[in-house]
Amino acid sequence: MSSNENIVWHNHHVSKEERSQLKIQKPCILWFTGLSGSGKSTVANAVETKLLELGKHTYLLDGDNIRMGLNRGLTFSDKDRVENIRRIGEVAKLFVDSGIIVLSAFISPFLDDRQQVRNLVQDGEFIEIFVDTPLDICEKRDPKGLYKKARNGVIRNFTGISSPYEAPENAEIHLINDNISIEEAASKVVDYLKEKGYLD
Ligand code: PPS
Repeated sequence: MSSNENIVWHNHHVSKEERSQLKIQKPCILWFTGLSGSGKSTVANAVETKLLELGKHTYLLDGDNIRMGLNRGLTFSDKDRVENIRRIGEVAKLFVDSGIIVLSAFISPFLDDRQQVRNLVQDGEFIEIFVDTPLDICEKRDPKGLYKKARNGVIRNFTGISSPYEAPENAEIHLINDNISIEEAASKVVDYLKEKGYLD
């Protein structure tokens, strides 16, 4: 017998549109994916600042922070990465339902996991943003010294070194982040949202 058998979904009286303050924004997930050190968090933070300046209601879910709280205890094994992204996807969906534009910055290395999150929400509510910074640049930056540790075998299962990264095939936004500035990258995302009517 499934433990879910006696659980019934409740429909809420207040809709997503009402929660998003009568459509001053179209709620969605801005899903940043890329290698460690690619600039996901930096660009996501810059986008969130711009959206705030435009009076939009946002929330940012960020890799290290979520692993210190909600997902404390999950490792970097394939199995735990899948669970990490599954939980974050469910949380992101709740934020969308609350009418908010949610930004998420996780490596999220597996195509299938990102597709699962896309499937959780309606068409157009999942916007994949590939922060496409080549491995050699990420490794040169090495802001936390983790690539060095991974090369020395101190950290196992490190994305790009000893654990795979499956690049998006059809990301809505492709940021080739080798010589583009943070400002340009963030503007590209905000321009996309404006063009597609998310901010009307
Ligand atoms: S994942 O793959 O989506 O579950 O990873 P995520 O939750 O985004 O966490 C990535 C951050 O964890 C640090 N870190 C590692 N990354 C990759 N592989 C291994 N083994 C690892 N160990 C620790 C690293 O600081 C990542 O941060 P970012 O911001 O991506 O550089």
